[in-house]
Amino acid sequence: MTSGGDHDDAKGKQMSRQRPKKTRFVASIPIAALFSVAVAILAASGGAQREPASLESRAQARLMWMRENQKGMWNVNPEEGAFLQDLVVKVKAKRALEIGSSNGYSGIWTALGLRQTGGHLLTLEIDEGRARLAEENFRRAGLDSLINLKLGNALEELPKLQGPFEFVFIDAWKQDYVRYLELVVPLVPPGGVIVAHNVRDLRDQLQDFIRAVKTDPHLKTAFENPGPGGFSVSTKLPPL
Ligand SMILES: C[S@@+](CC[C@H](N)C(=O)[O-])C[C@H]1O[C@@H](n2cnc3c(N)ncnc32)[C@H](O)[C@@H]1O
Repeated sequence: MTSGGDHDDAKGKQMSRQRPKKTRFVASIPIAALFSVAVAILAASGGAQREPASLESRAQARLMWMRENQKGMWNVNPEEGAFLQDLVVKVKAKRALEIGSSNGYSGIWTALGLRQTGGHLLTLEIDEGRARLAEENFRRAGLDSLINLKLGNALEELPKLQGPFEFVFIDAWKQDYVRYLELVVPLVPPGGVIVAHNVRDLRDQLQDFIRAVKTDPHLKTAFENPGPGGFSVSTKLPPL
């Protein structure tokens, strides 16, 4: 990549020597104009009532950059991210909790929903390197004021937390999902949701968890597939 970039730089310098400055400026106007129009259209078609275009587009640009430049982070895909954003809005979450931040991709989608509800996200990550990436990504997306990242083991951090969290997203190592569920159910108020990722593509590893969300008397669970991973969405029921 570095050598390609140098090559492009060299090519760019050559071209700028060949091309008069005025021509370059004029040529750049339609691209800038098209970009603004595209952002405005996107905002108008579903995002308009959510965000001023510039705020939404800054975060969306960072999400696109992350997909291109930070591979192997086990992120949800864009359709799944948009699903999380919409769900945060639907349940009017004021406090959201994520188990497994990685580099912050799903956290940014969640925070886009929280911008609309006036809420805040606490996200837990055990790996220092990915936690640093996430913090940088939150800043670059312009959403860092809405997100706290706690570096640590969720299995140790969750028992210290106080609810309510109206939205909980479980997306860490699969063998711990049942334990996470036990720890978060008491933190969620009636009407709040517990969402878990990979119940479709990794269902063989999540059999115990799937059974638990289906049979827990405090929960009503649906399965949603906006992307390949698949989500369980468990709504907390009023006290029995
Ligand atoms: C599937 S990735 C999360 C992807 C992220 N939710 C997204 O879509 O952008 C799982 C993350 O959970 C973290 N993790 C695993 N076990 C953990 C634990 N006990 N406490 C906190 N984080 C944990 C891993 O380090 C990894 O970064």
